[in-house]
Amino acid sequence: MSFRFLEVIRAGAVERVTLNRPDARNAFNEDVIGELTRWALAAGRDADLRVAVLAGAGAAFCAGADLAWMARMAAYSEEENVRDALALADMFAALDGLPMPLVGRVHGAALGGGTGLAAVCDIVVAADDAVFGFTEVRLGLLPAVISPYAIARIGAAAARDLMLTGRRIAAVEAVRLGLVHAVVPVDALDATVQRYVRDLLAGGPGAVRATKRLIRDVNGRRPSDVRELTAHAIAAQRVAPEGQEGLRAFLEKRVPSWLQ
Ligand code: COA
Repeated sequence: MSFRFLEVIRAGAVERVTLNRPDARNAFNEDVIGELTRWALAAGRDADLRVAVLAGAGAAFCAGADLAWMARMAAYSEEENVRDALALADMFAALDGLPMPLVGRVHGAALGGGTGLAAVCDIVVAADDAVFGFTEVRLGLLPAVISPYAIARIGAAAARDLMLTGRRIAAVEAVRLGLVHAVVPVDALDATVQRYVRDLLAGGPGAVRATKRLIRDVNGRRPSDVRELTAHAIAAQRVAPEGQEGLRAFLEKRVPSWLQ
């Protein structure tokens, strides 16, 4: 698959996708949206892919939607504007729906949709120079299609603060809000991402995917409502070859097959 604005590097079961439009701080226009959606849909069908990493080239992770492109949309009909916004919604849905863990490697600005991208990552590692924020209102816009992912991540109280003020926050505040998992000096960013990738590869491939699905399925629901679902999930995995291999490896004091 070839891309103009993405750099995709595969190393075994790990794929790193880098937004590669540095002159515009990796802002996404219709081309970037199309390419990232195409990548995510293909990655979602790739049974051998165990971890994906999302990064940005140049000075920033992602400056959100391309403002020049949005300004041009005034010349388009309402129907065309809706179609265009739906494409953006589909991009976020495709990334959020990835069956394997997505690790965000964030440095510099991650604003508007850039913060939205962080919100659909399972794990976000940020450099201490990273800046997040829902700046849309300051541009006379609103953080519409990213709102369900962002609110699910940081909650409505923090969303009211950040989305209504449009203020920018540092990575340490983003950690407190649950948007970011680790903040490290810029020169430790790649090593920290690698550590998370190694940790994600330490789990059984099927177990990690099933756990990602589980988190989605149980989130926000009452224990009694997911009683059957959770029981079936563990019942299936413990008798599956992978679950059996993991249990036997532990009992036989050896590493499981997926680590060899
Ligand atoms: N859309 C389109 N172009 C953008 C952009 C965006 N969201 N963000 C930055 N750019 C462009 C700038 O227009 C500039 O282009 P130019 O070189 O042709 O003048 C280039 O990227 C570099 O931007 P600049 O502001 O000079 O770089 P910086 O490193 O000092 O600051 C940001 C980077 C991202 C902090 C700053 O550009 C910014 O605040 N952008 C707006 C981000 C935002 O609010 N996004 C929400 C969108 S809804």
